[in-house]
Amino acid sequence: MLAVSVREPENVLDPAHFDSVRRPLAQAETMPPWTYTSQRFFEAERDRIFFRHWNCIGHHSKVPAAGSYYTFDFIGVPLIVVRGDDMQVRAFVNSCAHRGAEVMTGSGECKFMKCPYHAWTFDLKGQLFATPLVDESACFKKAEHGLRQVKLELFDGLMWINLDPASCSLAEHLGDLPERTKPWHADEMVCVNRTELTVNANWKLFSENFSDGLHVPFVHQTSIAKKKVSKRDFHDPAVFKGNYLMHYTYFDGTRGVPEGERKLPELDLPPEMKRGTFFPVVHANALMGYAVDSLSIHEVHPKGPTETLLVSSMMVPKASTEIPEFEAIIARYAETSATVRAEDRDAAEWQQRGLRSLVNRRGCYAEPDRLVHDYDRWIIDQVVGA
Ligand code: FES
Ligand SMILES: [Fe+2]
Repeated sequence: MLAVSVREPENVLDPAHFDSVRRPLAQAETMPPWTYTSQRFFEAERDRIFFRHWNCIGHHSKVPAAGSYYTFDFIGVPLIVVRGDDMQVRAFVNSCAHRGAEVMTGSGECKFMKCPYHAWTFDLKGQLFATPLVDESACFKKAEHGLRQVKLELFDGLMWINLDPASCSLAEHLGDLPERTKPWHADEMVCVNRTELTVNANWKLFSENFSDGLHVPFVHQTSIAKKKVSKRDFHDPAVFKGNYLMHYTYFDGTRGVPEGERKLPELDLPPEMKRGTFFPVVHANALMGYAVDSLSIHEVHPKGPTETLLVSSMMVPKASTEIPEFEAIIARYAETSATVRAEDRDAAEWQQRGLRSLVNRRGCYAEPDRLVHDYDRWIIDQVVGA
């Protein structure tokens, strides 16, 4: 019999579609396949997940000096990130306060931000200070027409934005996570690698996979699976308090390079943090790995229902960059990381290609998928309500 429930329904937000996902793990069904292809469901996720929660946009060294800026698009929102003369990093919607033109393009250094259309000019804090040929009047005051600012805060050397003016602070969002990651002193780390990878799959597939340990011996059999994992701790909301979902994977040393290769120095961490890697998935878009020698982060940038840009960075203490032959060592870390990421991309694309079928039925979760189940239920809570 053909299961019609795999087709995109009229009302994609009807909670009834998700009742079977919310069952206890052993009886639960996976998310409806159309949630990985539907434009309407994607737009609901954009508005209710990515426009509401904090999103990581990379290491603050992307804007190293006063006046450094770059522009980018975050799920359809054009943004400018710029460092002010006061060395504060700020984010603005890249749309002029006059008639909406894109103000800045690309990246570089600037002293002010000038719109190419009618030359309205904003300082690095987004305040409008020049409007050639247009004078202030009783109705028009420059002070009321600055660029629209977006919340931007730092955590562990990384910039995080929130598009919702009414959101909680980043600290409230993170809960106890900064306390847990304090031993890494990541805010003093330097970013040594940043790469982008397009994944032709829905963002959820790549993010779910990050919490899936079951795939590792198969998808990564020639890379990180060579390192034996002795145990995994899964998230317990009674212990880990914040908008994140964690797992801790136990193995000896680092998985940054294959066994027998030269490694980065290990960090000065408490013994309980040196038994593997701490992996928090920070809602909405940050997949983080606190390892014994480094911090890595994958930013998930959804581009559409079936396309995701993955931006990955690796950070190490400044002292690690001063060891002999650092460049050669880090190049091997970067290579290993690119291999693993490509393997995970392939896995997400296998799923995407299978899930687009209109003749199908809902899948199931296996016991080791329990964190994926938790993650999917979190998504449902955000999109259709708890
Ligand atoms: S739209 Fe920018 S100055 Fe007119
Ligand atoms: Fe993987």
